[in-house]
This record gives sequence, structure tokens and C-alpha cells, in this order.
Amino acid sequence: MPNVKSLAADERFEAFRHAYRAAIKEVRTKIEILSEDFAVRHDYNPIHHMERRLKTASGIEEKLVRYGEEVSLESAQEHIMDIAGIRVVCNFIDDVYRIADMLMSQEDIKLITKKDYIENPKPNGYRSLHLVISVPVYLMNGCQHVPVEVQIRTVAMDFWASLEHQLRYKKGKDLPERIDMELKFCADDSTQLDKRMQLLFDELNTNS
Ligand code: GTP
Ligand code: MG
Repeated sequence: MPNVKSLAADERFEAFRHAYRAAIKEVRTKIEILSEDFAVRHDYNPIHHMERRLKTASGIEEKLVRYGEEVSLESAQEHIMDIAGIRVVCNFIDDVYRIADMLMSQEDIKLITKKDYIENPKPNGYRSLHLVISVPVYLMNGCQHVPVEVQIRTVAMDFWASLEHQLRYKKGKDLPERIDMELKFCADDSTQLDKRMQLLFDELNTNS
């Protein structure tokens, strides 16, 4: 009989959440430092903005149930890789890979998974680079390696994803086929925009 007690009722839940909150802070600081260093050296900031989110107890429970796993903190720690999430929105496509490479080359960071939906977009047109990394967090009882999902994308990819999400959310998961097709066309247009903007950037920076 699976344990379906609510996670928030577990007395260890606040400490559990705190480790993920701390991991978000660590990764956020790392990315901020990289971005500032880049700005100091190149007089240009590759990051447009960042967002962060901590999955709620019910969000974690729902995903565990969807995965057919036990609902417990131990199980969440093992199976849910996006309890801590950071979204990094960059100006240009090259910035996405630059940030990802700089992050992954740091000694204390371990790459758990990488999904490149820019190279291989989802059939609906979704594009983004998803990394799950593990980062050491030093707490009262020692060091813990905590997974953080980092989604890195351009402003154009982010614009498309947030509007697509809004439309889908409003209308439930399934949209009429015509709308799906139209969204895919918009995704293709946004890909073209990203490519043209990158070319402009490259042209300006090789001539200056
Ligand atoms: P989840 O169960 O949603 O976490 O999917 P997953 O574990 O297979 O991971 P995946 O890398 O496919 O997606 C993780 C996250 O990326 C989602 O929670 C969304 O934030 C985002 N995402 C993925 N696909 C789409 C999409 O088609 N549209 C939008 N708007 N966001 C997406
Ligand atoms: Mg997810």
C-alpha cells in the first residue's frame, strides 16, 4: 500500500525545502557572477533576466503519483529533479550555450541530464536548453548535493513558451489542431528571428 501522506505534513519538510531553496541561491549567484564577469570583459550582458521557482508540496506529490512512485521525501529526493528550478533568459542563441558551458565547466557542479530542445525542438515547436545539475550545499549537518533544473533560452523562446503555456492552461491540455499548427508556425518564426538577430550581433561585433 503506497504511502500517500501529504509531504507538507512530514516534520522534515521545511528543512527539505530549505536545501532546495539554498541550491537555487547557489546557482543563481554562480550565474550572476558569470554574467557580471562577462559584462566587465565584453561590455555586454548576455542575460536578459532570471526567474526561479520552488515546486510546492502538492506539485511534488502530483508528479510522484504520475511517475507511479511512493509519496515521501526520500522518494521525492530520488525521483523529482525539478523541485528547484531556475530559468535563465538570454539575449542571443550563442549566449544560451555560453552560459551553459561556463556553468558546466565549474568543478563543483555535476551535470545530471541535458536536453537540448534548441537543437531538437519538441514537435509543438518548444525550444529551450534544459540542464539538471547538482550543486553542493553546505548545511548544519554537512554537505548535500542538490539537483537544480536550469532552463536556458532566448527572449524569443521565452516569449513563445509563456504564451503557449498560457493558451494551453486556459483551454486545458488539448488545443484544437488548427491552433497547434498556428503555434508551431509562430515557433518557426521565432527561430528565424533568433537566427537573424544572432547574425546582426555577429556582424556588428566582427566589424567593431
Ligand atoms: P515535466 O514532467 O513537465 O517536468 O517534463 P519532463 O520531466 O519530461 O521534462 P521536460 O524537459 O520535457 O520539461 C520540463 C519543463 O520544461 C516543463 O515543466 C516546462 O516548464 C517546460 N516545457 C517543456 N515542454 C514545454 C512546452 O511544450 N511548452 C512550454 N510552454 N513549456 C514546456
Ligand atoms: Mg519539469
